[in-house]
Amino acid sequence: MESKKQRVLIFDTTLRDGEQSPGASMNQDEKLRIAWQLERLGVDIIEAGFPVASDGDFLSVQQIAREIRRPQIAGLARYHIGDIDRAWEAIKEAAHPRIHTFISTSDIHLKYQLKKTRDQVLKDARAAVAHACSLTPNVEFSPMDATRTDRDYLCDIVEAVIAEGATTVNIPDTVGYIMPQEFGSLIAYLVEKVKNIRKAVISVHCHNDLGLAVANSLAAVKNGARQVECTINGIGERAGNTALEEVAMALKTRKDFFGFSTGLKTEHIYQSSRLLTHITGIPVQPNKAIVGANAFAHESGIHQDGLIKEKITYEIMTPQSVGISGTHLVLGKHSGRHAIAEHLTKMGYKLNADEVKRIFVRFKELADVKKEIFDEDLEAILYEELYRIDEKYKLIYLNVVSGNVAIPTATMQMEVDKEIIQDAGFGVGPVDATFAAIRKITKTNYHLLKYAVTAVTGGTDAQGETTVQLQYDGKSVVGRGADPDIIVASAKAYINALNRLEYLKTNVQKVKVE
Ligand code: KIV
Ligand code: ZN
Repeated sequence: MESKKQRVLIFDTTLRDGEQSPGASMNQDEKLRIAWQLERLGVDIIEAGFPVASDGDFLSVQQIAREIRRPQIAGLARYHIGDIDRAWEAIKEAAHPRIHTFISTSDIHLKYQLKKTRDQVLKDARAAVAHACSLTPNVEFSPMDATRTDRDYLCDIVEAVIAEGATTVNIPDTVGYIMPQEFGSLIAYLVEKVKNIRKAVISVHCHNDLGLAVANSLAAVKNGARQVECTINGIGERAGNTALEEVAMALKTRKDFFGFSTGLKTEHIYQSSRLLTHITGIPVQPNKAIVGANAFAHESGIHQDGLIKEKITYEIMTPQSVGISGTHLVLGKHSGRHAIAEHLTKMGYKLNADEVKRIFVRFKELADVKKEIFDEDLEAILYEELYRIDEKYKLIYLNVVSGNVAIPTATMQMEVDKEIIQDAGFGVGPVDATFAAIRKITKTNYHLLKYAVTAVTGGTDAQGETTVQLQYDGKSVVGRGADPDIIVASAKAYINALNRLEYLKTNVQKVKVE
């Protein structure tokens, strides 16, 4: 049995810092789906949100706290008493609640942002932690911009908050500035200088502005950190946060070097990554470590030859260890409901009878036009059929005429707030015409930032997966749609983006993490 000392805790902040990625806003049900998946993945702590930011944030943190029972559920709060009370209100029904409170500590932030002295900030940090500890014994404190904070002042703050009862002290590289060696030595310095450091777990929270978030987190672990804050696919503010899957697999693959384990069931990594991509519409770059499409693809003849002879020649971890089955071909037209249900279970989805029925109907429709159905096809159906809820806009019917002698025209019927509306649009091509029709029917005209099409699998009968990014009030939302007909997929993606925008409008964050 491994002792607690050999464990590195995984603190997932996909739903909080991750959601601060441009275009990554998620609705309450989507956040709950992600939280379920994180629980299955085995993360130790889920930072579910920033409850004071908006009523929407508060409600989703509260729902996650009520429904997700194994991991600790953290709510973020600035050092203000009102923030801390609001965070506590949201998480207090969790089986294992945690308050995470923070204040900036670098001279740069003190001078330009907080306009406070070091003494005032020290006092505020103490008061925040003392108040949080009056609500729960599980309190995490973060000195924001720690890596640009005077080292000895940082030690004073850390010592003071531990004395007040903080059980985790998180050292954030808020602006992604520090180098791995420097960060390692900063953690070692805290371990050496802070007298009561052993009473708390040292955590790290790195941003990826210089592409070093994972390297910095690992350097910190080597020097005494025992909690890593990270996000699925590394999403997060600006260039993102430490990628959970990369830290997890580095610790696992190089256990000989680090000597630590996590509690993660790494075979759920790929599915977690796919789920997040589907929900947020933020794609993973093909060459992304661990979860990118090419992460386990060997192109070179020499590599392929080596792999055939002995896998260890070029493979440091197996695709199966992160949940990539390797056998993607699944089912065809004649497969029955039972086979689909069984396959979905094998893929890691636990669905009830009604959900299986809905997926099966869609599967049959697809199997009529596509010979072979792959895992990715089933997933695309599943996400579309089950994970989209509360839609103001729905596509009912689309007919497009286009070609080199016709003016591309889209005739469309949609449901808008439960009312059926029909209209037509023209454009320079079939997609342009379709989008024109949608704009007419929905009486919207948002700026289109991006439109992209990819194939879910190979072959000309593959489903097209489209991404549409719309801009609203300086923010952007991403919608996705999948269908064997790429024009229909495009319409679905545009409508999905509009629905996400509606959500954003009613849940605009009123308070920023600053
Ligand atoms: O990057 C940062 O400093 C943060 C804190 C709130 C931990 O996200
Ligand atoms: Zn952050």
